Amino acid sequence: MKIMEVAVAPASAVMELERAYLLQNYSRYPLVLKRGKGCWLYDAAGRRYLDLISGIGVNSLGHAHPRIVRVIREQAALLIHSSNLYYHEFQGPLAKRICETSGMQRVFFCNSGTEAVEAAIKMVRAHGRRIDPQKYEIIAFENSFHGRTMGALSITGQPKYREPFEPLLEGVRILSPCDDAALEAAVSSRTAGIFVEPIQGEGGIYPMAGAWLRRLREMADRCNALLVFDEIQCGIGRPGVWHAYQLHEPPVLPDIVTLAKPMAAGLPLGAVACNEKAASTIAPGMHGTTFGGGALACRVALEFYAIVEELLPQIRRVGEYFFAGLRELQGQFSFIREVRGAGLMIGVELDFPCKHLVNEGIRHGLLFNVTHEKVIRMLPPYILTEKEVDRALGGLRKVLRNARPVSAA
Ligand SMILES: Cc1ncc(COP(=O)(O)O)c(C=O)c1O
Repeated sequence: MKIMEVAVAPASAVMELERAYLLQNYSRYPLVLKRGKGCWLYDAAGRRYLDLISGIGVNSLGHAHPRIVRVIREQAALLIHSSNLYYHEFQGPLAKRICETSGMQRVFFCNSGTEAVEAAIKMVRAHGRRIDPQKYEIIAFENSFHGRTMGALSITGQPKYREPFEPLLEGVRILSPCDDAALEAAVSSRTAGIFVEPIQGEGGIYPMAGAWLRRLREMADRCNALLVFDEIQCGIGRPGVWHAYQLHEPPVLPDIVTLAKPMAAGLPLGAVACNEKAASTIAPGMHGTTFGGGALACRVALEFYAIVEELLPQIRRVGEYFFAGLRELQGQFSFIREVRGAGLMIGVELDFPCKHLVNEGIRHGLLFNVTHEKVIRMLPPYILTEKEVDRALGGLRKVLRNARPVSAA
């Protein structure tokens, strides 16, 4: 049987065609990727790169993981999608697994992070409205990132993402994170929900203290608001435990947790997991999606959960090894201001804006990105080994050796 062939084009032609036909909303790095294996990606010329960003936290099991490839092959030949009009075998077991690992009780499946956040916003609004139509305010935090759709954007505390699209949702109060006085002043009977990332990702890898998360829990309870933890970037194994909110003792449970990125090892799948109180806000017909929770994505996610269970000790061990190496680098380069994160969610903050170092990284065979202007962000696959960390540290040392603020470079 013949399938359509896509002509192999040189990298310059690939880029040219995109420039001609794609919305110019991305500023891509000049790299055309062809295939991946484990923690390594290969370009069209066969040059390899250590993938320390894993598709922004998505390729959690690296590339071409044999168990994931096998499950995709098997399931694709059986059933890819059937809509939410009917049952298939995998949503139930996957929802059970998510509940067991998150401490939540019910799950809604969607396709992306921003959609999970939209669903959570709707739950928060529906929760408030059934108490009082004036109870619709949402509290969120500066520096946060919750997605690009209008609701998620409304609670994203970074003006650069919001401003071109204002006015956004009414009733959102964006507070400085960890400012207890501001929180105390903002929370009222009109507050319907509080959204927070237990580790801010896009905002520069800032872990929230357990005491602060507990304070948010307390304030949400005091005004009968729903507490939402956005674990789209920091959740499902990346911090070395299932969820970043479980890093604290005692753990702080939200009413709703939003999930996506790593969940289906590269396929699009998002989810909202919540307790019965939050779940009761949604009656049949109030929310839905065509693609969300398809058979292929859910089957792959089930396999992903089984693999991650085995990998959690490795994530902790290799994460600690990586942090120790980065702290050594910090001793060598005085412009490294801080090394932050948990498990395999890592931020290295420099004293100066460092986006230009991403191209240096590519030159040295390393893929990472820079967020919040000054933070080198690494979200490597969970299968990363100590040997690969040594490669990463060696490459970073070379990148940092010549690092200067761009104006002085
Ligand atoms: C914490 C957090 N929430 C939401 C999103 C949005 O997810 P998506 O890009 O899948 O819509 C992201 C994406 O980076 C994120 O990091």
